Amino acid sequence: MRVFITGGTGLIGSAVVAELLGNGHTVLALARSDASALAAEKAGAETIRGGIADLDVLRAGAARADGVIHLAFSNDFSSAEAVTNAVAEEGAALATLGEALVGSDRPLVTASGTPYAPGRASTEADPTPTDGLVGGRGRSVTAILGLADRGVRSTAVRLPRTVHNEGNGGFAGLLTNIARGSGVSGYPGDGTQRWPAVHALDAAVLFRLALEQAPAGTAWHAVADEGDQVRDIAAVIGRRLGVPVRAVPAETFGPLGQIFATDQPSSSTHTRQALGWEPKHPSLLDDLENIQP
Ligand SMILES: NC(=O)c1ccc[n+]([C@@H]2O[C@H](COP(=O)([O-])OP(=O)(O)OC[C@H]3O[C@@H](n4cnc5c(N)ncnc54)[C@H](OP(=O)(O)O)[C@@H]3O)[C@@H](O)[C@H]2O)c1
Repeated sequence: MRVFITGGTGLIGSAVVAELLGNGHTVLALARSDASALAAEKAGAETIRGGIADLDVLRAGAARADGVIHLAFSNDFSSAEAVTNAVAEEGAALATLGEALVGSDRPLVTASGTPYAPGRASTEADPTPTDGLVGGRGRSVTAILGLADRGVRSTAVRLPRTVHNEGNGGFAGLLTNIARGSGVSGYPGDGTQRWPAVHALDAAVLFRLALEQAPAGTAWHAVADEGDQVRDIAAVIGRRLGVPVRAVPAETFGPLGQIFATDQPSSSTHTRQALGWEPKHPSLLDDLENIQP
């Protein structure tokens, strides 16, 4: 397939591009800067210039492709306002991509997040969350999955809190950045809350499988580690950086404080059984050993 991808230069997207090219597909990557275009072309993709707010560019990219994978997101969590703007920008982009594919039966795979189910690991059958700070992302994904009735083979790959590679990425990566800045590897609450995780190279395989074979309107879990206790994650970060590890107020994490404090394990049993996905790369706690002081 010729695949149009947004976010193809990111931590996850660059792994998805390599996975697609390594499995007989070609890639048209959205690139918003010279540096991004250069990176995508070096990886073996063709590029189309623009950002996700350039809706005509998104329509043009989708028109030139047999399938679309959407991963671009500003990932600016510095304030609630920044997150709200990013969610709105992504919502308009996803709706545009979806409309461009209506009636074509072509696949549209979008990144989403694993849900939170109180007291147990969430499953693929749980609804996508539509409340809270990033609830708008869930509403956009739900609308896209609804296009299954209008001739779009739309699917969602729900990502866990940390998608990592070489010790970087996701919530654990944010903890690392904060620890570097503050000199303390901190966690909110008592640290027993669990976050799920996956290596980016494993997540990339699931994006390809969803593109190639997942039925319209379905959601899948890219979860390798069902849930690591946050104090265990902070302990590795602290040891690697040579800084103390301790509980800190939730406000330390800005608008993400509440989400960071939540126990949110997740399972991928159905995804493994139905799509034959099997993660092979290092777990989060092993990968964090790559952090350099
Ligand atoms: N990493 C995780 O742990 C994790 C966990 C759950 C969900 N996710 C979701 O997975 C997706 C990808 O995450 P990631 O970790 O790979 O993010 P990342 O490394 O920050 O990469 C973001 C990608 O989006 C592109 N992008 C950002 N804003 C854009 C814009 N306005 N127009 C065009 N492109 C834009 C970036 O392009 P440039 O190269 O030009 O900057 C880059 O390719 C996001 O939706 C993220 O929320 C990630």
